[in-house]
Amino acid sequence: MYKVDAHTHDDIALLRRPGMDFKASQGVTTVVTGNCGISPAPLEPDTPTPAPISLAVDGADARYPSFGAYLDALRRQPAALNVAPLVGHTTLRARCMAALDRPANADEIAAMQAHVREALDAGAFGVSTGTYYPPAAAATTDEIVAVCRPLAGSGGVFATHMRDEQDAVLDSLQETFRIGRELGVPVVVSHHKVTGERNRGRSAETLAAIDAARRCQCVALDCYPYTAGSTMLHDDPVRLQGRVLIAHSEPEPGMAGRDLDDIAREWGCSKLDAVKRLQPASAIYFMMDEADVQRILAYEPTMIGSDGIPLGPKPHPRLWGTFPRVLGRYSRELKLFPLETAVWKMTGLTAGNFGLEGRGTIAEGAWADLVVFDPDAVIDSATYDEPQRAAPGIEVVVVNGEPVWQAGQGTGARPGRVLQRRRSG
Ligand code: ZN
Ligand code: CU
Repeated sequence: MYKVDAHTHDDIALLRRPGMDFKASQGVTTVVTGNCGISPAPLEPDTPTPAPISLAVDGADARYPSFGAYLDALRRQPAALNVAPLVGHTTLRARCMAALDRPANADEIAAMQAHVREALDAGAFGVSTGTYYPPAAAATTDEIVAVCRPLAGSGGVFATHMRDEQDAVLDSLQETFRIGRELGVPVVVSHHKVTGERNRGRSAETLAAIDAARRCQCVALDCYPYTAGSTMLHDDPVRLQGRVLIAHSEPEPGMAGRDLDDIAREWGCSKLDAVKRLQPASAIYFMMDEADVQRILAYEPTMIGSDGIPLGPKPHPRLWGTFPRVLGRYSRELKLFPLETAVWKMTGLTAGNFGLEGRGTIAEGAWADLVVFDPDAVIDSATYDEPQRAAPGIEVVVVNGEPVWQAGQGTGARPGRVLQRRRSG
């Protein structure tokens, strides 16, 4: 089998940590990058990169003036794994707009469109948005449709971290479907979830809405197998409700792994003041219900994506544990679905949705991306306390015919390629 991580933020890790141990150790052979509106290109050296762009773009070596330049860098210095990259709308806004707290005007839309065209010509697999986040929250549906116009007929996809995964999650789904219909392109609902106490159980409604939309358009979705999410450290009190763990803090690296409430108590300040002192930072938020996570994972069209953020010593355990956890915990132990279904959700389903040709199934003439694993032993061992642990049970991982992971460690081989998008929708 062959695993595609449907949702990653590995754009720069591919260049800085080309062994990609945190993914190779799980049996991942291809990563889809550029998610949630965030990509390292196109950015000038002086383009401001507010959070969450800063989660992926954290240094002068992490920005590229064009998508083509980024892909050239990946080709010059291949990683262990293949990559199917998306271009991020939030990055485009940062690059093309003087202020991010309003919708784009006609000139800015034209400039962003030109970058989308350049990215698609260079080989991007589609466009992602992250209207949930402050730098893109003011973008209207019309802005997004206009910016993404070059996607129509390109064979690329529209992937989105939706505007709202809480009370207005159904409205967000309808917005996503509308964008897909207006452009005539497949949409991918990223890391689908419903958050907040009062929305517990509402995945029954969201999956029904997705089912209804799938009768008339292409809708895909991915999910990670945890009840906590992880992203930038928010400074909005509404988004700080519930338990918050610090994953990474630039000025206060010693606080990684600590509870925000404990930090505030120790510093004798309010939670919001502690947040200010910790920024730039990322955090882990406990905000979902296990029953919703299981319902979404078990939904037939759901792909597996880690949404891992390869940053700091205490990342969310999904970075190292997502795929073994689905195989070992959700399939074998909890019997949420058979092993074959678990494998399909990480391989053929994902390769088909993103148009990865010659990948995702084992066949004569297909690329030799293979994983040998022990179905009785595979399980995640990464935890919130010890998140950087390789999973047992993954024996050999082969990318383009070369072993990249074997006997519990990386082999040093770098056979990864920038994959090519299918050319028609
Ligand atoms: Zn996201
Ligand atoms: Cu993401």
